[in-house]
Amino acid sequence: MTEIRVRASRPYSVRIGGGLLPRCGELAAPLIEGRRAVVCAGENVFPLYGETVLKSLREAGFEAFACVYPAGEEVKTPETLVYIINKLAELGLTRADAVFALGGGVTGDMAGLAAALYRRGIACVLLPTTLLAAADASVGGKTAVDLPGGKNQMGVFSQPRLVLCDTETFRTLPREVLAEGWAEAVKCAFLREGPLQELLLGETPEERIEELVAECVKLKAGLVEADERDQGARRLLNFGHTVGHAIERCSGWRWHHGPAVAVGMAVMTRACAARGFCDAETLETLETLLRRFSLPLRCPYGAEELLAAAASDKKRAGERLTLVLPRRFGRCELVESDDRELGELLALGL
Ligand SMILES: NC(=O)c1ccc[n+]([C@@H]2O[C@H](COP(=O)([O-])OP(=O)(O)OC[C@H]3O[C@@H](n4cnc5c(N)ncnc54)[C@H](O)[C@@H]3O)[C@@H](O)[C@H]2O)c1
Repeated sequence: MTEIRVRASRPYSVRIGGGLLPRCGELAAPLIEGRRAVVCAGENVFPLYGETVLKSLREAGFEAFACVYPAGEEVKTPETLVYIINKLAELGLTRADAVFALGGGVTGDMAGLAAALYRRGIACVLLPTTLLAAADASVGGKTAVDLPGGKNQMGVFSQPRLVLCDTETFRTLPREVLAEGWAEAVKCAFLREGPLQELLLGETPEERIEELVAECVKLKAGLVEADERDQGARRLLNFGHTVGHAIERCSGWRWHHGPAVAVGMAVMTRACAARGFCDAETLETLETLLRRFSLPLRCPYGAEELLAAAASDKKRAGERLTLVLPRRFGRCELVESDDRELGELLALGL
């Protein structure tokens, strides 16, 4: 097992390894004052791991309950959020008790927000079961639900009490859900030089998943510690996101985040290579990695459509646009930009 300490405004540990779910009660108990726990999970994940978590919590002395809702991004809504909060109230949770968010990024974001809002905030333990949630969503304290106007538009920053990534849960992931996590790992490898680069280019990254998640978490933890509220260095994590979000929006959210970000990274890197901002080898490395993890390199949308979609992206602060541009494999830079330049980059990179 690997343990990484995130020194955010409220510090917490991220533990990564096989077999952590059956131990979640014992590992969480010292960090929670109360003895009531609600396990929040989607209806795909609960039948797979719900009973294991409830059993572990009960063995550790918790009175444990389940709160189950339909799976998927479609239910990451204010309505499901209120459903969860009402459930916490019905079950009589006090401020000393805890929510256990068992699932992918949807559950982590939504149950995390429910925990942050219920009685002005109770403890949340994240139990990520997708590679994406383990490597990315569970670190940094961003919680949210979607609104009709866009993704993650209603939320707060609220750090979890503990994160337990049981890597054995990835075995039941559908291939396309696993690919979302690989996209995230490729992105991380492009941001900073480090072990992740060798790991992804090496023979069998699939067999080194604990190390891979740990390296992504370390990178994200460092950026979160430097910039918890996402106003500076943390924005490096948005590599591929300006175009990626535009693709998601153009597709009416039929394109998933991972593949959309993969294309976003490819578009930006092609444009940067054409401009001489990075070299051809950087582009080749990115394309090799995206192919390796069955991620797309192109999208069916044109520059105009993507520009219009990018204009409504919530990450825009007024007229300014901060782009993340690759300088080489292992180094990205934040560049203040505008629509005109984004248009030029799209023309070069699509
Ligand atoms: N908070 C953050 O910093 C952050 C960062 C990145 C993404 N996100 C959010 O994360 C969400 C995407 O997360 P995701 O890709 O994990 O999607 P998800 O939570 O929807 O999970 C994807 C699918 O896999 C199923 N699933 C989950 N774990 C499983 C398992 N072990 N076995 C079988 N099926 C399983 C789910 O039921 C769902 O159908 C988005 O809403 C995004 O906004 C948040």
